[in-house]
Amino acid sequence: MDSRESSRLRWVTLGSSEALVDEGLDVLHGLKQPSKTLPCRYFYDDRGSDLFEQITDLPEYYPTRTEQSILENCALEIAQLTGSCELVELGSGSSRKTRLLLEAYSQLHTQLQYCPIDVSAGILRTTALELLRQYPKLRLCGLAGTYEQALAHLPPAELENRMLIFLGSTIGNLSAEACDRFLTQIQHALKPGEYFLLGVDLQKEVSVIEAAYNDAQGITAAFNLNILNHLNHRFQGNFDLNQFSHWAFYNPVQHQIEMHLRSLKHQIVTLKALNLEVTLEAGETIQTEISRKFHLPTLTTTLESHALHPLHIWTDPQAWFGLLLCQRQCVGAECP
Ligand code: TRP
Repeated sequence: MDSRESSRLRWVTLGSSEALVDEGLDVLHGLKQPSKTLPCRYFYDDRGSDLFEQITDLPEYYPTRTEQSILENCALEIAQLTGSCELVELGSGSSRKTRLLLEAYSQLHTQLQYCPIDVSAGILRTTALELLRQYPKLRLCGLAGTYEQALAHLPPAELENRMLIFLGSTIGNLSAEACDRFLTQIQHALKPGEYFLLGVDLQKEVSVIEAAYNDAQGITAAFNLNILNHLNHRFQGNFDLNQFSHWAFYNPVQHQIEMHLRSLKHQIVTLKALNLEVTLEAGETIQTEISRKFHLPTLTTTLESHALHPLHIWTDPQAWFGLLLCQRQCVGAECP
């Protein structure tokens, strides 16, 4: 990185006590439930982020390429609708799709300001350096942390206007209750008039959805199992990955993919750093992820109830995926 590039880069670091608060408590909590669960953010260590990038290229995994095709068609329109604004992305990963927005904003507006936020510091750093090289006007402000941490500590906006970006249907990985809490945080992080760009996977034929989470090459299985590897490293655990298998199916009542790891035998696993011993029966499963599939009218109502008004909704020709540009409305005393 040369000095011109480094002058356009800023890192926001969370106080160390902050970063460590509740570290691992969520793991303890999930593994002590009668139906065991693990928080899906533990998928994304550096290897997990890498495997996830591979998932996004799989022939069966339609969401990434479908969302990408929508963005290719509407990025300029988005940049026109919002005018100049700072882009803040939650879960930016490789920022592959965001590049389409960066292109559009750099064509239409003079200032280009982007804050990628990701739990995986490795992928964040690599991507930041690449983007600075690629976009000579770009000013970048990276934040390594969870969404909750990031939304609570967003750096002050450098431009008048701001757009929070949440792509890849990651919102579908939150339960309905967690989604409500998340949208409340979004509502509070934005000023009236500011924007929220949301990508969501839509309800469709079950076979298409199930194939996307059970790819023939087994990358999704490797990704799912890697969460145990991450826990082993992070909390001095002794999960044996050979004693678990990947299981993903669509729940048509809840309209969601449910992803689990199935224990292949009776086993006792310890996570030393958490002082935890977990007993698993043969066949017992740990739920690692849900991925909800949305119905646009219902989602619109939910967004409106958080003062987020969808100004414009784009989909692909098959209506497999939706992209919603929402504007934060004023409520009560906020209104002029
Ligand atoms: N947000 C992505 C989704 O719900 C995350 C994801 C895709 C994922 N494939 C996965 C998570 C496989 C775990 C395992 O589609």
